[in-house]
Parts: sequence; structure tokens; C-alpha cells
Amino acid sequence: MPILETKHLTKRFGGLVAVDDVNLKIEEREILGIIGPNGAGKTTLVSLISGLIYPTQGEIAFNGKNVEKLPEFERSRMGLARTFQLVRPLQQFTGLENIMVGALFAAGESLKKARESANEVCDLLEFERRNLHIDKLTVLDLKKIEIGRALASRPKILFLDEVMAGLNSDETWQMISLIKKLRNSGITIVIIEHIMGVIKELTDRVVVLDSGKVIAEGVYTEVSKDPKVISAYLGEEE
Ligand SMILES: Nc1ncnc2c1ncn2[C@@H]1O[C@H](COP(=O)(O)OP(=O)(O)OP(=O)(O)O)[C@@H](O)[C@H]1O
Ligand SMILES: [Mg+2]
Repeated sequence: MPILETKHLTKRFGGLVAVDDVNLKIEEREILGIIGPNGAGKTTLVSLISGLIYPTQGEIAFNGKNVEKLPEFERSRMGLARTFQLVRPLQQFTGLENIMVGALFAAGESLKKARESANEVCDLLEFERRNLHIDKLTVLDLKKIEIGRALASRPKILFLDEVMAGLNSDETWQMISLIKKLRNSGITIVIIEHIMGVIKELTDRVVVLDSGKVIAEGVYTEVSKDPKVISAYLGEEE
């Protein structure tokens, strides 16, 4: 049984069909990439699955249980987590405290336990400057906080929405090795990314979205040769 499955998942915003009849199967412990041009519906798909917004039509099953009508916090407690494309850490807090928020609210832990969990997450993410305030941190640190906040909810599946954006190549490699480490710790990972080198390096399989529809899926080396994918997306980059 896939860890997550969508059936005919559709989201309309007025006349626009942002996600159009998407049928996805995500297997436990894989790293799945979701690629596609700007406006293809990638973030909307993640928001539907995480429960930030509700579908116009279709189903979402998590470990075989339909969740499309459940509120976001319930899905989070079941083990679904996502990062946001625009990171907005709480400015008055340290990195560690921002991660504690995930443990307190999403995992429902006590303050003492939340601090312990947040420290464990920081160790896993090799986040050294955890006790500094937000304004002292680098872009990579801020990305670690965003991932850390999601990890503190103890997810079984984690959706990473463009976590590499804004990183230099050295930082990108550090992030790639962190994501490999997360997968090895047993978390299923879905990564949305515009940098094809990252997709090639990390993913077991990719799904290509265009205008809300899945236009191709398979291993990256195959999908990247597909004429439909090249004309919809890769042609403009490579
Ligand atoms: N809340 C909303 N209300 C109306 N339209 C929306 C809303 N959210 C997204 N859209 C539209 O839905 C389409 C898909 O947007 P989405 O953000 O999912 O794309 P994306 O694939 O994540 O793009 P990018 O690569 O730029 O992040 C776009 O046309 C966008 O303008
Ligand atoms: Mg997006």
C-alpha cells in the first residue's frame, strides 16, 4: 500500500484549475520529486495534501485512510508535514525556539519535551547556531529552521517546497546530504525543486506537472528525455 495516494484530486480557483485530476501514489521511504514550470500547481498540490486548503474534488489517502476532509492539525498529528516556499520564522525567537513551536503545537509536547525534541532535530540537521536570534542567521540556517519546524512534528512524510532556493552551491550540497540523511532515518520525502541537478541527485522517481496535470512520471533520466517534458519545462532551462 502506498503511504500516500491521491485520486482525481482537483482544485479550482474560480475559472482556473490549479490542480487537475491528479492521481499520485507515493511509496514509503522513497524520495519523489515534483517538477514543472511556475504556476504548474506544485505548491497547491502540497497545500491540498497538508490540509491548508481543501480540494474541489477528489480524495487523499494517507496510510489507507481518507484525510481530505480532516483539518490541517489532525493531518499533522498523523504524520504529514510540509515546509513553506516563503520561510517566515518568528523574528523575536532563536532558531531552536522556532523549531520548538513545531514540537509544541504540531506534536502536542510539553515545553520541556519540546525543547529536547527541538535539540534532537537541530543535531540531526547539524544546526550549530540554534541559540542565535533570527537576524544573526544565514539563509541555510533559516532553511534548517523551516525543515526543523516540520521535523519537530515527527512526520512520516515530509513535503519540501523549494528548500534549495537562495542557497549557494556549497550550501546546496550540504542540504542534499541532509535530505539523504532524513530519508535514511525512515521519512518519506517529496521534494519540489527547480534545480534539476538536485532532482537528479536525490530522487528515486519524479512526477511532472503542467497546468495542474501530471504530464509524465518515472525516473529522472527517462522523464528528462520525454519531449512533452522538454517542451513544457526543461526546454526553457537547459
Ligand atoms: N489562493 C489562490 N487563489 C487563486 N489562485 C491561486 C491561489 N493559489 C495559487 N493560485 C494559482 O494557481 C496556479 C498554481 O499555483 P502554484 O503556486 O501551485 O504553482 P507552483 O507550481 O507552485 O509554481 P512556482 O514554481 O512558481 O512555485 C497559479 O496560476 C496560481 O496563480
Ligand atoms: Mg510553488
